Amino acid sequence: MNILLLGSGGREHAFARQLSSSPLCKHLYIAPGNAGTALVGENIAIGVTDFPQIKQFCLEKKIEMVVVGPEEPLVKGIFEFFLEDKELSSILVVGPSLKGALLEGSKDFAKAFMERHHIPTARYASFTKETIEEGLSFLETMRAPYVLKADGLAAGKGVVILDNLQEAKAELKRMLLEEKFGKASQRVVIEEFLKGIELSCFVLTDGEHFKILPTAKDYKRIGEGDTGLNTGGMGAVSPVPFADKSFMEKVLERIIIPTLKGLKIECVTYRGFIFIGLIKVGDDPFVIEYNVRMGDPETEVVLPRIQTDLVELLKATAEGNLNKINLSIDPRSATTVVAVSGGYPEEYQKGKVISGLDNETESIVFHAGTSEKDGKIITNGGRVLAVTSLDNNFKEALKKSYRELEKIHFENIYFRKDIGFDL
Ligand code: AMP
Ligand code: GLY
Repeated sequence: MNILLLGSGGREHAFARQLSSSPLCKHLYIAPGNAGTALVGENIAIGVTDFPQIKQFCLEKKIEMVVVGPEEPLVKGIFEFFLEDKELSSILVVGPSLKGALLEGSKDFAKAFMERHHIPTARYASFTKETIEEGLSFLETMRAPYVLKADGLAAGKGVVILDNLQEAKAELKRMLLEEKFGKASQRVVIEEFLKGIELSCFVLTDGEHFKILPTAKDYKRIGEGDTGLNTGGMGAVSPVPFADKSFMEKVLERIIIPTLKGLKIECVTYRGFIFIGLIKVGDDPFVIEYNVRMGDPETEVVLPRIQTDLVELLKATAEGNLNKINLSIDPRSATTVVAVSGGYPEEYQKGKVISGLDNETESIVFHAGTSEKDGKIITNGGRVLAVTSLDNNFKEALKKSYRELEKIHFENIYFRKDIGFDL
């Protein structure tokens, strides 16, 4: 089949590599893609939310399935855009409907959904400009640290955690009155701080059936020892060693099944990935957040462990046949280490030539922020590459990724040398 993949990061290179290697894939296009996706498919210069252009392209190239990488097209309703257009409605779209995408698009919606379906999560309340006085009083009833979340999408920056009550009150005012995160912070969720260790679990559902994909843990902070600013993710490990059988049974019973039942009861069409951000408090799982897509860099450790044909798996998801699929997982561990441009997540430079990519490798080098210029691969983003390796345990896999990174160079390259340090 002809497939269109939307996105341009390491996640999309991981999807593209696996989709293109399927015998079921006739032609793979990536919009807009990067220099890595260009090695396994054909990049096209269309933005991920340019729905009219996407439509025209799908008709012209006889696309049969659209796979959506990032959240934005989903939260903007790409599922309905296809479903409700006579010319597009026969094209499979892997992803949730608009209402399903609200699980990520609105923290308030997600919290209320969890409350309705008795899914364990931090205690919370939501406030707007009109109810700011109640919000300030609510903060006084909470204990530090204070967790404030912009309701809408804020490019991963909308969560602020503060130790001091006065600072928390000032932040609430900035978010609600000055719209610090624009429209996204017109509503703010204040929630109880949970202390524990985080991990992510990924579910693929066709609305009726589901498959649990490998767990992963990502490392969000720029600095070693989980210090410094938050980033998109500096590395990841799969599986997560502390997510043992008894813990995962709790996740299934208390979180996955109630989430899927909740979607069904509320008549929410959902044929795609659910990324559940979890925190393990004592021995119990709590939901920190839902995302309606795969994670980046989690995808770079989850997909390489999936041995089932990815086109078959996603086609079955979109067609409602997931029960007919036998999901086969590589028992080995996967790790990925992300190489970034110096300065990221603050200001950084682009256009640096990357060398050492064409060596023989025992790893998989996924491109994130790269592009091609005059036959050379250059940096084109903060997160530049994600180097994934597989081995019998995550420590051995990590050694391979670090060996590979020794061969790769670009000006001001930086990566964390302690991925997995807390496991
Ligand atoms: P989110 O965007 O909701 O994933 O939040 C970003 C990060 O903030 C999470 O990965 C956690 O590290 C942290 N966080 C969010 N909510 C809480 C909470 N209730 N308790 C502790 N940490 C939290
Ligand atoms: N790595 C976290 C995310 O994709 O949201």
